[in-house]
Amino acid sequence: MIDTRTTEMQELISPKLPHIFYGGDYNPEQWPKATWQEDVRLMQEAGVNVVSLGIFAWAWLEPRPGEYHFEWLDEIMDLLHAHGIMVDLATATASPPPWLAKLHPESLPVTADGVRLSPGSRQQYCPSNHAYREAAQALVKQLAERYRDHPALILWHIGNEYGCHIPDCYCDQSAAAFREWLQQRYGTIEALNDAWGTAFWSQRYGTWDEINPPRAAPTFINPTQQLDWRRFSSDALLECYEQERSILKEITPDVPVTTNFMGFFKPLDYWKWARREDVVSNDSYPDPSDPHSHVAQAMSYDLMRSLGGGKPWLLMEQVTSQVQWRPHNPLKRPGQMRLLSYQALARGANGIMFFQWRASQAGAEKFHGGMVPHVGTANSRVWDEVRKLGAELPRLDPLLAARVPADIAILLDWESWWAVEQDAKPSQDVRVLSQILSYYAPLFMRNITVDFVPPNADLHGYKVVLAPNLYMVRDDIAQTLEQFVSNGGTLVMSFFSGIVDERDHILLGGYPAPFRRVLGLRVEEFDPYVPGQTNHIRMSDGSTYTCDLWSDVIDLEGAEALAYWTDDFYAGRPAITRHAFGQGISYYLGTRPEQVCMEQILEQVCNEADVRPVLAVPPGVEVVRRENADRSFLFVLNHTTSAVEIGLNQTAHNLLTGEEHSERVTLQSRAVAVLESGR
Ligand code: GAL
Repeated sequence: MIDTRTTEMQELISPKLPHIFYGGDYNPEQWPKATWQEDVRLMQEAGVNVVSLGIFAWAWLEPRPGEYHFEWLDEIMDLLHAHGIMVDLATATASPPPWLAKLHPESLPVTADGVRLSPGSRQQYCPSNHAYREAAQALVKQLAERYRDHPALILWHIGNEYGCHIPDCYCDQSAAAFREWLQQRYGTIEALNDAWGTAFWSQRYGTWDEINPPRAAPTFINPTQQLDWRRFSSDALLECYEQERSILKEITPDVPVTTNFMGFFKPLDYWKWARREDVVSNDSYPDPSDPHSHVAQAMSYDLMRSLGGGKPWLLMEQVTSQVQWRPHNPLKRPGQMRLLSYQALARGANGIMFFQWRASQAGAEKFHGGMVPHVGTANSRVWDEVRKLGAELPRLDPLLAARVPADIAILLDWESWWAVEQDAKPSQDVRVLSQILSYYAPLFMRNITVDFVPPNADLHGYKVVLAPNLYMVRDDIAQTLEQFVSNGGTLVMSFFSGIVDERDHILLGGYPAPFRRVLGLRVEEFDPYVPGQTNHIRMSDGSTYTCDLWSDVIDLEGAEALAYWTDDFYAGRPAITRHAFGQGISYYLGTRPEQVCMEQILEQVCNEADVRPVLAVPPGVEVVRRENADRSFLFVLNHTTSAVEIGLNQTAHNLLTGEEHSERVTLQSRAVAVLESGR
């Protein structure tokens, strides 16, 4: 029998706080002590129950090398605790103090062009630099030992947004670390030469020390060298994270750890990173002036849930009103912050936090919004919205252990993403994120929830797997997908998939070699378009659609054509195909069709696979279901600027208003309902 209590505890970020986390980055070092008192009072007023503390406080904690000052942190930790506020305590290593650069100029990062960057901004460290790593670890040890038993400590926040500004460093120390990493991977120089295809352009290496990072060079750099550099650079930062994590795990084994992700952040292979976290957390700054930004945001939230294997995650940062780092920074409109907060909860988050608690008075982020704005709290729209949200979140406690079910998975392989977007390709316009979005958006619009999966995933339980541009084939993915389809699953694969192995060597014998059997076709040639060029496809019912970006020239080997090219020398040949394989079906899209066509194809796929929308609602309304063993929680989010009526198919209890709805619920513009019912 399942012990539901234990299962529910496992779903909590920490048993110390069995509620939705609510709070933000708190930087008391920027303010006089008198303000601290006001801060904790206002935090209580806003319903804040947790803050992230000390993220950029290294220079305050260690003003001179080896000289630690924790008195102020002791005081603020105690003050927060006395007011019932928990602490996500940072290891403070995201930005070293200026003394590190003075003492160790070699700790500063170097660009591919050989420019050494200066302090005066943030994150100015080379990930492979020993002095940085040693100083960081020493600080982490001090912090862990000092606060190990502090009652306010609930979570460790390691670093901050790893790689955000400096995803890689090209200095000599990084070069040495790269060589070591390559020796680990390949063992012998012959194996490296083979993997890198150095027979080409006289690139053969005789010894390891001839190898360098892919620094500025006369023309295209060896693609496998570039790819290994991406792998190495993600690993180098992960090693920094891992060194801090192991200190924390040794001293405070029961305190969970996280580091905040940045959505679909290309430089770091988050599948690898997430395995080292107890809680996945994410920072999200959708552009409030883009009417579609909530779609990409939903997609990144689905990724966060998937990175943690479906466990609740934490929205570590968003902004109440406006950021300061875009060229133009409009405000979130009234109700938009609340709506976007609920979107995170709908997609599996158990916490809503902000950068930052109090808007700064000085520094590069002084025009970035805060929970407490520059105008203060009296007659402030922002503060009112912050306070109201904080007041209603406790009503959602019943859903803390509820998960988000999904029948469809999108395959995302970071290494393939790196490889396909390198230079010297058939088209520089094949971009993984926009390709994924072109599959995700039609499903989002129909309120069909999607998970993401890595290439070594267990696909059991999914009805449909989408593989847009799976350029690189590794981790037995070809066998996994073949098995999935033959057991009754549906696969949808796009052009420029199955092209190379993990060394970025072409898989010969007709594209997409390892998937030809399951797809029932061969791609003889591909024809990428120049900007503005289009072609057309005709579906079997006679309807015609425009395509851009790419044409595959396809031979059928068992598949049937669903659409044919109408133009060019390959007119009449298949463009979109369907293949019955084993008990399942595979689809192949040899182009990028316009959105209505994508909608139609994905609708057909979903109908055949019996994947149903969560609820049929008017356009612009997002619906997501969370559920636990016996309850279902339907999030209904109105992203439009007018009121909408939603028809319900069962009686439900609105957790936010306390109302019972039997047949329908009316939602004003940007309003939200969370409807609880039995399963
Ligand atoms: C994040 C960062 C925060 C703050 C914020 C501004 O990238 O973690 O420290 O800079 O952006 O939007």
